[in-house]
Amino acid sequence: MDNLYEHVHDAAEDLRRKIAFKPEAALILGTGLGGPVNRIEVTARIPYGDIVHMPCSTVQEHQGDLVFGAFAGRDVVVMQGRLHFYEGYSLQQITLPVRIMRELGAEILIVNSAAGGLNPLFQAADVMIVTDHLNLLGANPLRGICDERLGDRFPDMTRPYDPLLIETAGQAALDLKIPVRHGVYAAVAGPSLETRAETRMLRLLGADAVGMSTVPEVIVATQVGFRTLALAAVTNVNLPDCMEAVSVERVVANAKIAEPKLAAILEETLRRDKIRG
Ligand code: HPA
Repeated sequence: MDNLYEHVHDAAEDLRRKIAFKPEAALILGTGLGGPVNRIEVTARIPYGDIVHMPCSTVQEHQGDLVFGAFAGRDVVVMQGRLHFYEGYSLQQITLPVRIMRELGAEILIVNSAAGGLNPLFQAADVMIVTDHLNLLGANPLRGICDERLGDRFPDMTRPYDPLLIETAGQAALDLKIPVRHGVYAAVAGPSLETRAETRMLRLLGADAVGMSTVPEVIVATQVGFRTLALAAVTNVNLPDCMEAVSVERVVANAKIAEPKLAAILEETLRRDKIRG
């Protein structure tokens, strides 16, 4: 994408013209994990299609909204509806909203998603706090970008997930009496699910869960200086030696069970981070 900096700038300007709002935090909510949006005191809801330069597919009519409002005592901007690599978007397109939300002033990014569990100790409907990731997409959202106004060319990736937010989320979960897992999230391109051999490989590589999102957004979030937290709903557990077929119905059902746990941790983490910060 040429003129990425200008696109980010123009989109942020366009949004500022539509609504005077400086978010403190940005949320990206995965499919079936949009619960927090129901608890937002909404100030404005702007469809992606109304925002200049926002990626839009010709296939899907309504991809989502950018929702502005108050949540957990903070001013937030929420991406309700996510863009995925497997839908055919480029990684630069997928991550453009991350840059826009940062440009609007947000300092914290919280991302949630569904994932397949690989750690044999995990159970379906568990919540995992992401501590690190493996980018197995075969691509990088920063490829081809050489514009210092967008951030470092070679961003440090030793701690893309903010240690303080990880600690706050863990403590919040403990106090809420919600068991959580911690682990490494591997991102694959999808949309086909993993073979048994791929599942074994991912586990050998050190992954605790596998999904088709999160990592591009987090790479860009790191480049632009967000403090980032990622929470994954473990919707199925894949064990290569006795692997069951992954049923989409079960994935959706388990996402539904995990969703309120994940939403409660997310909300409490945001609230506590303000007090600590
Ligand atoms: N693999 C990849 N992505 C997923 C899975 C899975 O098993 N479950 C939910 N998202």
